[in-house]
Amino acid sequence: MNLEVIRLKRDKLESCQFIIFGGTGDLTHRKLIPAFYNLLDQGLLPEGFSIVATGRSIDNREEYLASLYQSLHKFVKKEIKEDIWNALQKKIYYKSFDILNEGGYQNLKKILDEKSQSKARRIFYLAMPPRFFGTIVSSLEKYKLLDFSKPSWPKVVIEKPFGYDLKSATELNQQITGVFPEENIYRIDHYLGKEMLQSMMMIRFANLVFEAVWDNKYIDNIQIISNEKVGVGQRGGYYEKSGALRDMVQNHMLQILALTAMEAPADMSTESIRAEKIKVLKSLADLDIEQIDSYVIRAQYDVGKIDGEEVTAYWNERNVADDSSTETFVALKLFVDNLRWSGVPFYIKTGKRLPNKVTKVIIEFKSSFHPSYHKEFNDLSPNLLVIKIQPEEGISFEFNAKKPGTKAKIVPVKMDFCQNCQVGFNSPEAYERLIHSVIIGDQTLFTHWDEVEYSWRFVDQIAQAWSESKAQLPSYPAGSNGPKEVEELLKRDNRKWWE
Ligand code: BG6
Repeated sequence: MNLEVIRLKRDKLESCQFIIFGGTGDLTHRKLIPAFYNLLDQGLLPEGFSIVATGRSIDNREEYLASLYQSLHKFVKKEIKEDIWNALQKKIYYKSFDILNEGGYQNLKKILDEKSQSKARRIFYLAMPPRFFGTIVSSLEKYKLLDFSKPSWPKVVIEKPFGYDLKSATELNQQITGVFPEENIYRIDHYLGKEMLQSMMMIRFANLVFEAVWDNKYIDNIQIISNEKVGVGQRGGYYEKSGALRDMVQNHMLQILALTAMEAPADMSTESIRAEKIKVLKSLADLDIEQIDSYVIRAQYDVGKIDGEEVTAYWNERNVADDSSTETFVALKLFVDNLRWSGVPFYIKTGKRLPNKVTKVIIEFKSSFHPSYHKEFNDLSPNLLVIKIQPEEGISFEFNAKKPGTKAKIVPVKMDFCQNCQVGFNSPEAYERLIHSVIIGDQTLFTHWDEVEYSWRFVDQIAQAWSESKAQLPSYPAGSNGPKEVEELLKRDNRKWWE
């Protein structure tokens, strides 16, 4: 939902308590508290709202607030307004807390009851490693921190990764749904909070000119690319068990694909939108071993240079094994088995330590030109529609036009709309939008269990094949465009990456 629309609804916001497990962690500092700051600045938090953060590494509230204040300066992209911070810090309480210590939950309950009357309106945000999700959720129930007397309350927000594979995700889901009904569960995929992904449905369904050609009759292939410059940084321990396939493809990349390929929903309700995304994920064509071999490429970054600076190899990062076989790069081809997309390949590519940070979707249209043009002009470029998700937000369309001059020559030209270049267009950060959606109870930007399930079903086939493969993992120099095999993947199909 557009923040302008949300602002109009703010009077209706119900006061609530936001409880963060993992309050001293990276996510809280980088994303959550900056998001609360921005929401408060825009008047988008309810009256009587409070945050209770729990964590282990800090002992008292003063110290905690001081650490948050430092982070705000680092992670909020504009100058910090002292009056807003003062108002925000009054709403924040801190409790040093060990989630494995059962006595802690009774103490926490006491604090929550003291700090707010709205016992039935609590939002529990699990910004913790997933192995703790089950314990926290069952302890919340056991120690009576949950009051289900109001519809859709209390809520639980679960950070990714949602499981390691389908089996563990199913177990985790059973634990959570054993306590919370689906309508109270918010599974985060922060890509869904990105402006241009929200815009995807509007671009398609509010423009007949695009939707009319959005199928296998006109589209040759679709490329979904998310390149990162960063390496794994301090997250080696987590990433070793995840790799790019589980870290990016299972969630963000398949969510982008679902939004690109879905049918028009019956209406704009959460249920209708989710139903269409689920159908796409359910229709992902299975891959057999040979297809996995030839359609899926993985690789790991080696030493190299990023912006002229030497950077280390993945295996040399903190908490990473010297002989690690974890992939930091994945490219793959897949098909959506339905009438609209039959025969159209979707190419996905994502990796760390690539030269630029960029996420985009490229729709390449078929090169079927008028026969006389085919005869007359060689190498006519296909039409390309590019949805730019980040860092630039916008859309561009490439088409053919006459080159000015006396000779009849055709050149590709581009119409470019840059959303975040325009004065007055200030897209909210993904987490701002997501937190606000949780408060107002809009689940559209969160993944339903069925989406998680079908994504894992697809990804598990690849992970399983890799775990049994003896093939050597290729590497690519940091700062390069990835392994050489990635160009081959498209060349074999007489295509190329449009970057
Ligand atoms: C996270 C992954 O979900 O997304 C990270 O765990 C990745 O490894 C990040 O760096 C990318 O997000 P964004 O918003 O920077 O593209």
